[in-house]
Amino acid sequence: MPQTPGVPHASPVLLAEKLSKAVRSGERSLTILKDLSLSVAQGESVAILGKSGAGKSTLLGLLAGLDTPSDGELSLFGHPLSRLDEDGRAALRAGRVGFVFQNFQLLPTLSALENVLLPLELSPRAGESQTARDWLERVGLGERIDHLPKQLSGGEQQRVAIARAFVADPELVFADEPTGNLDPDTGAQVIDLLFTLNREAGTTLILVTHDHALARRCDRCLRLAAGQLNAFDPAVEGGGDE
Ligand SMILES: Nc1ncnc2c1ncn2[C@@H]1O[C@H](COP(=O)(O)OP(=O)(O)OP(=O)(O)O)[C@@H](O)[C@H]1O
Ligand SMILES: [Mg+2]
Repeated sequence: MPQTPGVPHASPVLLAEKLSKAVRSGERSLTILKDLSLSVAQGESVAILGKSGAGKSTLLGLLAGLDTPSDGELSLFGHPLSRLDEDGRAALRAGRVGFVFQNFQLLPTLSALENVLLPLELSPRAGESQTARDWLERVGLGERIDHLPKQLSGGEQQRVAIARAFVADPELVFADEPTGNLDPDTGAQVIDLLFTLNREAGTTLILVTHDHALARRCDRCLRLAAGQLNAFDPAVEGGGDE
């Protein structure tokens, strides 16, 4: 697969082959991603950069199996997703995949603690509310566990979303601009937490970011442009377009 940037040696947790995504935009079809291939090994950290509108969030949704490609194949943990229906894809993700959405997607009627508990209720380790409390402590929200999302600041909601993504001890975490709403100090703490988990628990991280400090700490940096991913070195190229 010569078109796959930086093919790692171990058997991949994620393998995307010639993924394309086109959507209807009024009368026309808009191609967001075109023949995009990517292989990610267990324990790797990968940063995805690119201009606003390049398709980063669309790509992350596809790679996590939350959305379906127009063409191409995606395998997670060795399972081709095209052979699974939506329930099968959800079952594959449960407890193994965490996702931090760019717009958080917290449930508005649930408290911070209840939002973080959600993935545990879907996994065999139901009811471990202490684990959820511990996670809220780790992201600095131990005093906010009973707050509803609307009673939290944007950065606090982002940290609840991060706690929710990690609470079920997933093998693979996708995070869409996880520090986008945080001040530099809080952002640095969240980044340290992400990389501690990557190092200690071997969690594979796939991060969308405009933050070059965060990108430089990843094993690999990829830029999404014209529907394709290409490797780049942020220390050398400086990013340029983000
Ligand atoms: N369902 C859809 N229908 C029509 N257009 C869409 C749809 N989803 C995404 N797009 C378009 O595809 C492009 C890529 O969107 P996406 O949200 O993936 O970009 P992004 O790289 O995450 O941008 P940002 O950095 O601003 O978050 C945008 O131009 C967007 O308007
Ligand atoms: Mg986005």
